[in-house]
Amino acid sequence: MKLLVTGGAGFIGSNFILYWLKKYPQDKIINLDKLTYAGNLENLKSIEKNPNYEFVQGDICDPKLVNSLTEKVDTIVHFAAESHVDRSIFDPAPFIKTNIEGTYVLLESAFKNKVKRFHHISTDEVFGALELNSTTKFNDLSPYNPHSPYSASKASSDHLVRAYFDTYQLPITISNCSNNFGPYQFPEKLIPLAITNIIEGGKVPIYGDGLYVRDWLYVEDHCKAIDLILNKGKIGETYLVGGLTEDVSNLEIIKKILKIMGKDESEIEYVKDRPGHDRRYAVDWSRINKELGWKPNYGFDEYLEQTISWYKNNQEWWRRIKC
Ligand SMILES: NC(=O)c1ccc[n+]([C@@H]2O[C@H](COP(=O)([O-])OP(=O)(O)OC[C@H]3O[C@@H](n4cnc5c(N)ncnc54)[C@H](O)[C@@H]3O)[C@@H](O)[C@H]2O)c1
Repeated sequence: MKLLVTGGAGFIGSNFILYWLKKYPQDKIINLDKLTYAGNLENLKSIEKNPNYEFVQGDICDPKLVNSLTEKVDTIVHFAAESHVDRSIFDPAPFIKTNIEGTYVLLESAFKNKVKRFHHISTDEVFGALELNSTTKFNDLSPYNPHSPYSASKASSDHLVRAYFDTYQLPITISNCSNNFGPYQFPEKLIPLAITNIIEGGKVPIYGDGLYVRDWLYVEDHCKAIDLILNKGKIGETYLVGGLTEDVSNLEIIKKILKIMGKDESEIEYVKDRPGHDRRYAVDWSRINKELGWKPNYGFDEYLEQTISWYKNNQEWWRRIKC
């Protein structure tokens, strides 16, 4: 395969490129990334000289550049996005530009150049919030109901991708995945922020009462799901991808991290809640399990410990980028 990976210098994109070139060393990857604050080429140092890997710094909103790359590949895996909910509340503009317009530019180019597959990476946040203490999960029939500018921009991009399938028969697939954790996640997100604050001797902030439930997946399991979708997924299909955690709240996660790192709960600092904060996400991933045989391999507690060790052992990586 010849892949154009967008946003490959970010958290999941860089884990995906490392995973892919290890598993399919004969494949070629072009990584198009604008290198916003979230993009970091350090993540890809181990493969920067690999002849099957090429990095191009640029914007997915630039049709000329995108066309010049799309014509060289057969597959697009589209990760590039503005991804932090808090930033989207503060300033939605770059979210609308990159997540919606950028996806449109890529779709047009994919159609023009007749790519064999356009895989769009999306999030469970497009479905909105579930009730706390309920047992319902998001599934294929869940209506879209996004609440933040981030999730609304991702929802818009999903609709556009599906429209290119329905209208132009562009061979697309979409995955809506739950919260990822693991190495190379920018230390503004819940888990790396907590770990790095504790290493620095600071407090761990938590929004509101902390009773916000997320479904957590180790990033390599997400990469495996994308691999299966690219190789065996049905064109036009959307797959929900989620983890093994059963209703663990952000507060419980912080407590687990504090315990593993030998600190007590007095390090928690409750801060003013985020507006429009979704209470609970949970993902029913039974369809991708039945149809493609995917399931998460990595248990949350074990890989939370591994992730903590990674941040302890790679302090140079995060100290350079943490404000
Ligand atoms: N992190 C999660 O838990 C999670 C869960 C489900 C889905 N997703 C989705 O996965 C994708 C990747 O998320 P992430 O956490 O790795 O994000 P990230 O913020 O770590 O990385 C995003 C990357 O996109 C690049 N980028 C941003 N704007 C660009 C532009 N205009 N042109 C080219 N490159 C640009 C950035 O430089 C960065 O390298 C996103 O689409 C996100 O919505 C993330």
